[in-house]
Amino acid sequence: MAGRKKGRHRPRRPARGRRPVKARRVRSRWLWWTGTACLVAATGALIFVVASGPEDLPVESGKGPEEGSEIAAGQTLYSEHCASCHGADLAGQPNWKRRLADGRYPAPPHDETGHTWHHGDEYLFAVTKRGGQATAPPGFLSGMPGFDETLSDAEIWSILDFIKSRWPPEIVNQQRRASSR
Ligand code: HEC
Repeated sequence: MAGRKKGRHRPRRPARGRRPVKARRVRSRWLWWTGTACLVAATGALIFVVASGPEDLPVESGKGPEEGSEIAAGQTLYSEHCASCHGADLAGQPNWKRRLADGRYPAPPHDETGHTWHHGDEYLFAVTKRGGQATAPPGFLSGMPGFDETLSDAEIWSILDFIKSRWPPEIVNQQRRASSR
């Protein structure tokens, strides 16, 4: 046996189509079970999607259920980490355009009345991850904390998706153009 190459003397498999009847039957039974399992899984997924009701979520219509659930996760994270400054309704802090005594600005709204949508995705992500100071021009004092330590990249994107889900379609389109610039 030593040194004998594997498979060299293996008997040839019967040519296709001439397979023993038993093997063919096993194969078709296997196919039947796989097909049934897929059908059961698909029905289950459909029931789940219908029962969990993506219409409960604050998403604009036309979004798939998967995207909807990410937006719901983003909303939860937003209320935990962002709402204290940017407002639960995304309206920002009062007089957000007026500089405070400490040289910083209040938190701006994230809805269509603010300027979040003026910026492309890359910038919004960077500001959230690294904070306002890291992305600001020299000499500018920013009150926006970075969330690098607290949130994963995927969590940051889901929060941004939630914010976007609150914008009217024309604002969504304008921000998309800003992102592709
Ligand atoms: C402690 C208050 C505070 C918290 C909490 C906070 N922010 Fe901010 N955020 C600010 C302030 C203040 C600014 C304005 C930054 C500036 O003047 O540089 C800002 C600016 C931003 C901007 C830039 C907007 C623009 O138009 O330039 C984004 C994006 C942003 N925040 C996202 C978030 C997200 C997402 C969260 C939650 C994960 C969050 N912020 C949590 C205070 C906060």
